[in-house]
Amino acid sequence: MKKNKILAFLTVLTVVFFAACGGGGTADTSQTDQEEQQPAQEEVVVEEDSGLKAQLELGEKIYKEKCIVCHQADAKGIKGAFPPLANADYVVADLRRAVAQTLNGSHEEMVVNGETFNAPMTPQVKTIEEAVSVINFVLKEFNGYTDDQLIKLEDMADIEINPMTIPAQ
Ligand code: HEC
Repeated sequence: MKKNKILAFLTVLTVVFFAACGGGGTADTSQTDQEEQQPAQEEVVVEEDSGLKAQLELGEKIYKEKCIVCHQADAKGIKGAFPPLANADYVVADLRRAVAQTLNGSHEEMVVNGETFNAPMTPQVKTIEEAVSVINFVLKEFNGYTDDQLIKLEDMADIEINPMTIPAQ
Protein backbone atom coordinates (compact mmCIF):
# COMPACT_ATOMS: atom_id res chain seq x y z
CA MET A 1 0.00 0.00 0.00
CA LYS A 2 2.59 2.45 1.13
CA LYS A 3 4.85 1.58 -1.76
CA ASN A 4 1.98 2.08 -4.20
CA LYS A 5 1.29 5.50 -2.84
CA ILE A 6 4.88 6.56 -3.18
CA LEU A 7 4.95 5.19 -6.72
CA ALA A 8 1.79 7.05 -7.59
CA PHE A 9 3.21 10.24 -6.12
CA LEU A 10 6.41 9.86 -8.08
CA THR A 11 4.45 9.29 -11.27
CA VAL A 12 2.46 12.45 -10.72
CA LEU A 13 5.62 14.36 -9.98
CA THR A 14 7.23 13.11 -13.16
CA VAL A 15 4.22 14.02 -15.26
CA VAL A 16 4.08 17.49 -13.75
CA PHE A 17 7.78 17.91 -14.29
CA PHE A 18 7.59 17.01 -17.96
CA ALA A 19 4.45 19.00 -18.51
CA ALA A 20 6.13 22.04 -17.06
CA CYS A 21 9.31 21.71 -19.03
CA GLY A 22 8.28 20.02 -22.21
CA GLY A 23 6.04 21.10 -25.01
CA GLY A 24 6.38 24.78 -24.27
CA GLY A 25 9.84 25.50 -25.54
CA THR A 26 8.95 28.37 -27.82
CA ALA A 27 6.18 29.78 -25.66
CA ASP A 28 8.54 29.80 -22.70
CA THR A 29 11.15 31.84 -24.48
CA SER A 30 8.71 34.48 -25.67
CA GLN A 31 7.26 34.75 -22.19
CA THR A 32 10.70 35.36 -20.76
CA ASP A 33 11.26 38.05 -23.37
CA GLN A 34 8.06 39.80 -22.39
CA GLU A 35 8.81 39.57 -18.72
CA GLU A 36 12.17 41.12 -19.30
CA GLN A 37 10.77 44.00 -21.33
CA GLN A 38 7.76 45.00 -19.26
CA PRO A 39 9.32 45.68 -15.86
CA ALA A 40 12.10 47.57 -17.59
CA GLN A 41 9.57 49.97 -19.17
CA GLU A 42 7.66 50.45 -15.94
CA GLU A 43 10.81 51.18 -14.00
CA VAL A 44 11.72 54.07 -16.29
CA VAL A 45 8.32 55.71 -15.83
CA VAL A 46 8.36 55.29 -12.05
CA GLU A 47 11.90 56.58 -11.76
CA GLU A 48 11.20 59.64 -13.89
CA ASP A 49 8.62 61.17 -11.59
CA SER A 50 8.37 59.03 -8.51
CA GLY A 51 8.74 62.20 -6.42
CA LEU A 52 5.88 63.94 -8.20
CA LYS A 53 3.77 60.80 -8.19
CA ALA A 54 4.14 60.47 -4.43
CA GLN A 55 3.36 64.16 -4.01
CA LEU A 56 0.18 63.91 -6.08
CA GLU A 57 -0.90 60.83 -4.14
CA LEU A 58 -0.44 62.75 -0.90
CA GLY A 59 -2.37 65.64 -2.43
CA GLU A 60 -5.24 63.36 -3.40
CA LYS A 61 -5.34 61.89 0.10
CA ILE A 62 -5.46 65.35 1.70
CA TYR A 63 -8.12 66.50 -0.77
CA LYS A 64 -10.33 63.51 -0.01
CA GLU A 65 -9.83 63.81 3.74
CA LYS A 66 -10.24 67.56 4.10
CA CYS A 67 -11.19 69.70 1.12
CA ILE A 68 -13.90 67.48 -0.29
CA VAL A 69 -16.34 68.35 2.51
CA CYS A 70 -16.65 71.93 1.32
CA HIS A 71 -15.20 72.10 -2.17
CA GLN A 72 -16.91 68.81 -3.18
CA ALA A 73 -15.71 65.70 -5.02
CA ASP A 74 -15.91 67.43 -8.40
CA ALA A 75 -14.24 70.54 -6.89
CA LYS A 76 -17.07 72.70 -8.18
CA GLY A 77 -17.87 73.92 -4.67
CA ILE A 78 -21.33 74.90 -3.47
CA LYS A 79 -23.04 77.94 -4.88
CA GLY A 80 -23.17 80.80 -2.42
CA ALA A 81 -21.01 79.04 0.17
CA PHE A 82 -17.83 77.34 -1.01
CA PRO A 83 -15.95 78.55 -4.08
CA PRO A 84 -14.98 76.15 -6.86
CA LEU A 85 -11.44 74.84 -7.20
CA ALA A 86 -12.16 73.24 -10.59
CA ASN A 87 -11.45 75.41 -13.63
CA ALA A 88 -11.29 78.27 -11.16
CA ASP A 89 -9.91 81.54 -12.52
CA TYR A 90 -9.13 82.73 -8.99
CA VAL A 91 -6.95 79.69 -8.20
CA VAL A 92 -4.88 79.73 -11.36
CA ALA A 93 -4.44 83.51 -11.26
CA ASP A 94 -2.12 83.19 -8.26
CA LEU A 95 -0.82 79.76 -7.30
CA ARG A 96 1.26 81.18 -4.47
CA ARG A 97 -1.85 82.70 -2.96
CA ALA A 98 -3.64 79.34 -3.25
CA VAL A 99 -0.85 77.57 -1.36
CA ALA A 100 -0.79 80.32 1.29
CA GLN A 101 -4.57 80.17 1.75
CA THR A 102 -4.49 76.41 2.17
CA LEU A 103 -1.82 76.83 4.85
CA ASN A 104 -3.13 79.87 6.69
CA GLY A 105 -6.79 80.04 5.82
CA SER A 106 -8.62 82.85 4.11
CA HIS A 107 -11.07 85.45 5.23
CA GLU A 108 -11.75 87.94 2.50
CA GLU A 109 -14.33 88.62 -0.11
CA MET A 110 -13.36 86.96 -3.38
CA VAL A 111 -14.81 86.59 -6.84
CA VAL A 112 -14.34 83.14 -8.33
CA ASN A 113 -15.61 82.54 -11.86
CA GLY A 114 -17.81 85.60 -11.59
CA GLU A 115 -19.39 84.70 -8.26
CA THR A 116 -18.70 86.40 -4.95
CA PHE A 117 -17.79 84.33 -1.88
CA ASN A 118 -17.17 85.61 1.58
CA ALA A 119 -17.17 82.86 4.19
CA PRO A 120 -13.98 82.20 6.13
CA MET A 121 -11.86 79.12 5.49
CA THR A 122 -9.79 77.89 8.43
CA PRO A 123 -6.20 76.72 7.87
CA GLN A 124 -6.27 73.27 6.30
CA VAL A 125 -2.75 71.83 6.51
CA LYS A 126 0.36 72.28 8.63
CA THR A 127 3.26 72.24 6.17
CA ILE A 128 4.12 73.93 2.89
CA GLU A 129 4.75 70.48 1.44
CA GLU A 130 1.18 69.41 2.21
CA ALA A 131 -0.22 72.64 0.80
CA VAL A 132 1.80 72.32 -2.42
CA SER A 133 0.82 68.65 -2.75
CA VAL A 134 -2.90 69.29 -2.49
CA ILE A 135 -2.85 72.37 -4.75
CA ASN A 136 -0.85 70.41 -7.35
CA PHE A 137 -3.45 67.66 -7.16
CA VAL A 138 -6.19 70.26 -7.66
CA LEU A 139 -4.34 71.79 -10.64
CA LYS A 140 -3.74 68.48 -12.35
CA GLU A 141 -7.05 66.81 -11.57
CA PHE A 142 -9.43 69.74 -11.93
CA ASN A 143 -7.66 72.46 -13.93
CA GLY A 144 -6.03 70.57 -16.78
CA TYR A 145 -2.44 71.23 -15.71
CA THR A 146 0.32 69.01 -17.07
CA ASP A 147 3.11 67.71 -14.85
CA ASP A 148 5.61 70.32 -16.01
CA GLN A 149 3.20 73.17 -15.22
CA LEU A 150 2.81 72.16 -11.58
CA ILE A 151 4.21 74.08 -8.62
CA LYS A 152 7.73 73.30 -7.45
CA LEU A 153 8.06 72.96 -3.71
CA GLU A 154 11.27 75.00 -3.64
CA ASP A 155 9.51 77.99 -5.22
CA MET A 156 7.07 78.09 -2.28
CA ALA A 157 9.53 77.33 0.52
CA ASP A 158 9.54 80.93 1.76
CA ILE A 159 5.77 81.23 2.27
CA GLU A 160 5.17 82.23 5.85
CA ILE A 161 3.16 79.92 8.03
CA ASN A 162 1.18 81.96 10.47
CA PRO A 163 1.84 80.22 13.79
CA MET A 164 -1.43 81.53 15.23
CA THR A 165 -3.45 79.73 12.62
CA ILE A 166 -1.92 76.26 12.58
CA PRO A 167 -4.77 73.85 13.18
CA ALA A 168 -4.58 72.12 16.55
CA GLN A 169 -4.21 68.36 16.27
C1 HEC B 1 -14.97 74.04 5.98
C2 HEC B 1 -15.04 74.28 4.56
C3 HEC B 1 -13.74 74.27 3.76
C4 HEC B 1 -12.77 73.31 3.71
C5 HEC B 1 -12.72 72.00 4.49
C6 HEC B 1 -11.80 73.75 2.75
N1 HEC B 1 -12.16 74.97 2.25
FE1 HEC B 1 -11.12 76.06 0.88
N2 HEC B 1 -12.50 77.56 1.05
C7 HEC B 1 -13.61 77.54 1.86
C8 HEC B 1 -14.24 78.85 1.83
C9 HEC B 1 -15.50 79.26 2.58
C10 HEC B 1 -13.47 79.64 0.98
C11 HEC B 1 -13.65 81.14 0.68
C12 HEC B 1 -12.75 81.89 1.63
C13 HEC B 1 -12.85 83.38 1.59
O1 HEC B 1 -13.82 83.92 1.06
O2 HEC B 1 -11.91 84.02 2.11
C14 HEC B 1 -12.38 78.79 0.48
C15 HEC B 1 -11.42 79.19 -0.42
C16 HEC B 1 -10.38 78.40 -0.88
C17 HEC B 1 -9.43 78.84 -1.84
C18 HEC B 1 -9.39 80.18 -2.55
C19 HEC B 1 -10.64 80.32 -3.38
C20 HEC B 1 -10.64 79.44 -4.58
O3 HEC B 1 -11.71 78.90 -4.92
O4 HEC B 1 -9.57 79.34 -5.19
C21 HEC B 1 -8.56 77.79 -2.04
C22 HEC B 1 -7.37 77.73 -2.99
C23 HEC B 1 -8.98 76.73 -1.17
N3 HEC B 1 -10.10 77.14 -0.48
C24 HEC B 1 -8.36 75.51 -1.07
C25 HEC B 1 -8.73 74.52 -0.16
C26 HEC B 1 -8.02 73.29 -0.01
C27 HEC B 1 -6.82 72.86 -0.83
C28 HEC B 1 -8.66 72.59 0.97
C29 HEC B 1 -8.29 71.25 1.55
C30 HEC B 1 -6.92 71.09 2.01
C31 HEC B 1 -9.78 73.41 1.42
N4 HEC B 1 -9.78 74.57 0.70
C32 HEC B 1 -10.67 73.04 2.40
C33 HEC B 1 -14.04 76.48 2.60
C34 HEC B 1 -13.34 75.33 2.84
